[in-house]
Amino acid sequence: MRIASYHIPHETERRLDTLVGRIEAHPGDMIAPGEFEAAQQPVDLRAVLKTLPDGLSETDFAGILKLALLTECATETYGAAFRERAVRFEAPWLGRFNDRVWVPDELTHHTPYRTMLLSMGFSAAELDRAIREVQQANYIHAGGDSPVHVTTFGIVQEYLTDNWHGLIADLLRRAAPEAAYMATRIKRRETLHTVWYRDMVALQVEGNPRLLPFVAEALVGFQMPGNQLAPQFQSQVARWMPSMGADFERITRDLVRYIHGAMGDAATTGRLLMSIATEKDITLGPVSPRVLEAAVNRLGGPGYGLLGEALLERVGLSYMFRAHPDRQDRAYALYSRPYERVRALLRSWVARQIDLRIGTPAASGALSVSADA
Ligand SMILES: [Fe+2]
Ligand SMILES: [Fe+2]
Repeated sequence: MRIASYHIPHETERRLDTLVGRIEAHPGDMIAPGEFEAAQQPVDLRAVLKTLPDGLSETDFAGILKLALLTECATETYGAAFRERAVRFEAPWLGRFNDRVWVPDELTHHTPYRTMLLSMGFSAAELDRAIREVQQANYIHAGGDSPVHVTTFGIVQEYLTDNWHGLIADLLRRAAPEAAYMATRIKRRETLHTVWYRDMVALQVEGNPRLLPFVAEALVGFQMPGNQLAPQFQSQVARWMPSMGADFERITRDLVRYIHGAMGDAATTGRLLMSIATEKDITLGPVSPRVLEAAVNRLGGPGYGLLGEALLERVGLSYMFRAHPDRQDRAYALYSRPYERVRALLRSWVARQIDLRIGTPAASGALSVSADA
């Protein structure tokens, strides 16, 4: 089901324009440039070193902060990549969001990490040299170019970054609460960015459901920019995360919830899941994606709905499709019970076949689906 080009109806364009206008008018609690430098309390991270969890050395901790510093300092690089694509695909709404909201917002995110690393004893010259190198590096944006590709990339990248700042805040909280506050402040901005990108993807997919394979492509081809810009640190994330207390189940659930939010309903989420399976040519249960797709296509909406529900069930989000028992009227319950039972059995069977591996920031591919052995 490949499509040749990116297209959205005029009405969708108008709605995206309105959305960006609203974001511009109400960007939330933006961080003011210089806000962190003006903090009353000087940041001192030396006390944190004594409270590091098992498995994290001082060098690891510095690497964790440097990864945040270096990926955040390349805002202009990502901004230019998004701007170029917005122009190429004639998506002024995306260009406007990028230039007027996202870039100015992101520009403030690396400074606190520079301050923290200075307080650990790193020299300004050394840090600034590393920053300059990353800013001048040649960044190749992975995961597709159309506006729906880049906004899907945005959902995953912003969410994983949100998570990263949160994990850092947890490490800092006990011994350096003022530094934890800075990380949390940034984390909250990333949460907003995630939600904005989710809404942009939702509008595009609603306007043109044929864009779904693009969403799948972006998820499958996802790569954290750190893989290119700071590979020496990014490659250690998978080792660091468990010691930092990362909850992989929660991360998976959160990401699925955001993606499902962008899809709008279980059937569309099911179509996306199928699209991912086809894109990666992986089997779901005993059959190849092509065979499964043919079978589900015969069932139409209900078949895809079942797939979408199975994904939600798999990550513990079944409340998102299950009606509250009090709200079902009796006659309907009587009539639907046998059907619902069969459906629930099938759904749980499919759910068991879905092996979700959400890429940690180190891994590539945000979402992989494969057969349970
Ligand atoms: Fe950021
Ligand atoms: Fe962000």
